[in-house]
Amino acid sequence: MIELADAQSILERCDALGAISEEPDRLTRRFATPAMRAANAAVAGWMRDAGMTVRQDSIGNLIGRYEAREAGAKTLLLGSHLDTVRDAGKYDGPLGVLVALALVERLHARDVRLPFALEVVAFADEEGLRYHTSYLGSQVLAGTFDPRDLSRRDEDGIAMGEAIRAFGGDPAAIDRDKRDPDTVLAYCEVHIEQGPVLERRELPVGVVSVIMGQSRCDIAFAGQAGHAGTVPMDLRHDALCAAAEFALAVEGLARREAGLVATVGRLAVEPGASNVIPGRAAFSLDVRHLDDVARDTACRDLHNTAEGIGARRGVSVEWRPVQESATVGCSPALGAALSRAIEALGYAALSLPSGAGHDAVVMSTLTPVAMLFVRCKGGVSHNPAEAVAVEDVAVALDVMDTFLANLVDSYNLAVDFR
Ligand code: GLV
Ligand code: MN
Ligand code: MN
Repeated sequence: MIELADAQSILERCDALGAISEEPDRLTRRFATPAMRAANAAVAGWMRDAGMTVRQDSIGNLIGRYEAREAGAKTLLLGSHLDTVRDAGKYDGPLGVLVALALVERLHARDVRLPFALEVVAFADEEGLRYHTSYLGSQVLAGTFDPRDLSRRDEDGIAMGEAIRAFGGDPAAIDRDKRDPDTVLAYCEVHIEQGPVLERRELPVGVVSVIMGQSRCDIAFAGQAGHAGTVPMDLRHDALCAAAEFALAVEGLARREAGLVATVGRLAVEPGASNVIPGRAAFSLDVRHLDDVARDTACRDLHNTAEGIGARRGVSVEWRPVQESATVGCSPALGAALSRAIEALGYAALSLPSGAGHDAVVMSTLTPVAMLFVRCKGGVSHNPAEAVAVEDVAVALDVMDTFLANLVDSYNLAVDFR
């Protein structure tokens, strides 16, 4: 019989964070906004109650630390992100932070210290909604943050550096928050699956094998604005029609190529009036494949397609790669420890790839990573209908508890998880 009280409390906290939004009728919590500040304050309070010392780093990551039995021990990093997409669900990110917090609460309640320290990290930006580039939080810990990003501007013209300072951070100190890999044991993240596999296999949790690589580009077609009533159809250079043709070409390629997924998810049309031919259409492109070469080839094909459309329609093409991450493998040794923990609870340990990106992608450049997926209803995510069952969260928590015990044994034997 599984104990549900801790899982219930995790879900109540997800509800509480789900109510902290920049928008009145839907959940949108971008990096370094007042809503993020309120979310960090709520989580910081829970961290302190769980016996952790709490700090916010130079970019706004919230970090709760639970000391080891003895000084000088390594640190196991656990966590996920607190920022969201626009009109988000309540569990993408926060669930991982709150399961990690609940693990520490259990230790604190029993007055137990482990041979390694635990840090619960609530990353300040994983989704990239505000500055169209993701993983800002984890890049700071991994030491891969690109200072040129500080001059990116959000839709209100606020530069990232300015937003960080207003949030209480310090762009000049970002370098100093890079973690020394020799002091870190590993990074482990619990996350909703965001897909349908676990539900189909009737399993509450699963172990992530690899995280799919992705490329993001900002693209714009620039044509000629004109009068919607007077310019004949054959003399137009309509930027939106070019973008529409391109979006369908993206869909067509991804439907033809096995394993490829590609999305145009954001589109802005200028000047944006019903009686004006669109002069400019700026949009995003997100391309993913487990095979990095196939992803690269798809990006090149799509770039050629955009140039072809532009030439035929007499519109110019701006193509700006924004971000790229290769497919990342999780640590086989940590995955095996998670699998043993799942099997010890009487469930089959399914290993599955992740189509979604996660903080673990960037953290893998610092330390071995592991991820535990939790079944979500209908595989729905990036949608307010995201849902998880309390029983599945309870299983995830118990799996992580057993996993921690497995890690204690490995740590005492000085196992290297790489
Ligand atoms: C993160 O949510 C992603 O876009 O994969
Ligand atoms: Mn997400
Ligand atoms: Mn996420």
